[in-house]
Amino acid sequence: EGYAKIILFGEHFVVYREKAIVSGLKDLRTEVSVEKSNSLKIFPEDWDIERVRKAVNSITSSLNIDNKIRITIEKTVPLKQNLGSSSAFSVALVRALDKLYSLNLKEEEIIKHSYEGERIFHGTPSGIDNTASTIGKPLIFQKTENSFKYEKIKIKEPLHILIVPTGEEKPSTLELVKMFRELKENSSLHKKFFEIYGELVEKAIKAMENGDIEKLSYLMNLNHSLLYSFNLSTPKIEFIREKLRRENVLASKITGAGKGGNIIALFSSKEDALKAKEKFNAIYTEVY
Ligand code: MEV
Repeated sequence: EGYAKIILFGEHFVVYREKAIVSGLKDLRTEVSVEKSNSLKIFPEDWDIERVRKAVNSITSSLNIDNKIRITIEKTVPLKQNLGSSSAFSVALVRALDKLYSLNLKEEEIIKHSYEGERIFHGTPSGIDNTASTIGKPLIFQKTENSFKYEKIKIKEPLHILIVPTGEEKPSTLELVKMFRELKENSSLHKKFFEIYGELVEKAIKAMENGDIEKLSYLMNLNHSLLYSFNLSTPKIEFIREKLRRENVLASKITGAGKGGNIIALFSSKEDALKAKEKFNAIYTEVY
């Protein structure tokens, strides 16, 4: 299995080696089963099947095994929703192959091989998604020159979060990463946002460790503003954020690549979150 993920801080900035905070969601996952076969077969076939085939080939060659397998996707994280469906699939496949061939892969190896799948889906991913899809817990993630590092973050008070669908189909992550890069490279003002973000994420880590929910909310809204300035929001997202404000939300922001899919909303209690849940057709999750 591979878990869905939400990025709490630092999507896009993470591509440029800034720290980010992410959490895998253990109750929302992709499950695949694998058996040996005479050729590569994937069921069901309603995904972007050519890309999935390529990702499978990339993962099997990374694992140094042949691709004569029959893959059944039993259950999947919602697609194109900024919840990491591709990374959840890549991780689930690596785990299923690990079992089939008794490879005894360690956590780091699962991350490494699933990254090869992610590369097919997203070009030059930071590795944050497949790391979160493997670990399933809140992490501080950072890309390094040739690799990445992560550590589990100790959250003092559980965070009550709604994952709110916008109903908008987002453009591909590849396109959005490119758009962000163009602004970063061509605007001296946008470059300066990196300085702000660097300070912001350090403060967010401290606020989580200290259980300072007020500070955390302020920082989460600010992180959204930075992403907004990179043109990653939409009128619909802003409309939903406004509606959330009437439901005692503390903060809300884009999560993942942006421009549609889901956004996240932070509440001070489970009760408040559950009250708003139905109105927004949202998923409740507790991050701790
Ligand atoms: C996508 O979930 C997160 C991005 O930062 C891309 C990446 O890190 O690979 C937008």
